[in-house]
Amino acid sequence: MTPGRALLTVNGLQISYHQQGQPVTVVHDVSLQVRAGQIVALIGESGSGKSATALSILGLLGHGGRIEQGEIWLGEHNLRRCSKREYARLRGKMMAVIFQDPMNALNPLMTVGKQILESVKRHSGLRGQAARRSALQLMQRAGLENSEKLYHQYPFQLSGGMCQRVMIAIALASESRLLIADEPTTALDVSVQAQILDELRRLRDEEGLGILLITHDFGVVAELADEVYVMRDGRIVESGSVYNVFERPAQAYTQELLSAATAVD
Ligand SMILES: Nc1ncnc2c1ncn2[C@@H]1O[C@H](COP(=O)(O)OP(=O)(O)OP(=O)(O)O)[C@@H](O)[C@H]1O
Ligand SMILES: [Mg+2]
Repeated sequence: MTPGRALLTVNGLQISYHQQGQPVTVVHDVSLQVRAGQIVALIGESGSGKSATALSILGLLGHGGRIEQGEIWLGEHNLRRCSKREYARLRGKMMAVIFQDPMNALNPLMTVGKQILESVKRHSGLRGQAARRSALQLMQRAGLENSEKLYHQYPFQLSGGMCQRVMIAIALASESRLLIADEPTTALDVSVQAQILDELRRLRDEEGLGILLITHDFGVVAELADEVYVMRDGRIVESGSVYNVFERPAQAYTQELLSAATAVD
């Protein structure tokens, strides 16, 4: 498939964190792009700066984290030139996110239906029965069958895989075309991992979403990514189509990651 328009463009991103009172650069000169209908993987060992990159795009670096340099474009919007308010508005409308630990990301005291409903109300302005119908449809789209029954259940009554599908339903309520997924299957059982990966593939192929998929697992990259960026010590050390990087990894580091992935299979 020909990739669509650029949903996300990152240029020359540099991020620092305060560690023991000193700013330490943890991401250096990272540039990447995600287009509609594409899964772009960001892979690298633990601590290589994958999450810092994702969090900076989401405006969620938190205390002590700072973007020192670079540009982040969401479509035509230069996020680093936006007011805080505009950033928050664009984030809600144009970026959806799912994280590693879906169980903890959900409110334990609220039914999953209600949580999806709140996301629908926030993003669509729908109310009453129309909002409820939309929430049920989102559950179906996220692969939650039997949505009428699940609607009234609490997160602890669901498996990790189902909780991740609830997170996907909440993400889909925003109608954003870009999904940022930080290790979305790492905390799940192997059998469920494959189902969630299938769901991401479907969102790309059938709905044309662009997905930035963060992982440390080359098996996952091989399964479904189109392009891959390999990170090490805060830098992109290699990038290209998955086919090229797999066939001809230029860096010894990439070869090591690859052989680690094939060793477990
Ligand atoms: N809140 C923080 N305060 C200080 N340093 C941080 C903070 N968060 C991350 N770092 C540092 O930034 C670097 C990049 O971390 P990051 O979380 O982006 O790695 P990662 O590639 O996502 O790793 P993992 O695969 O373990 O999730 C690491 O050296 C880490 O110690
Ligand atoms: Mg991380």
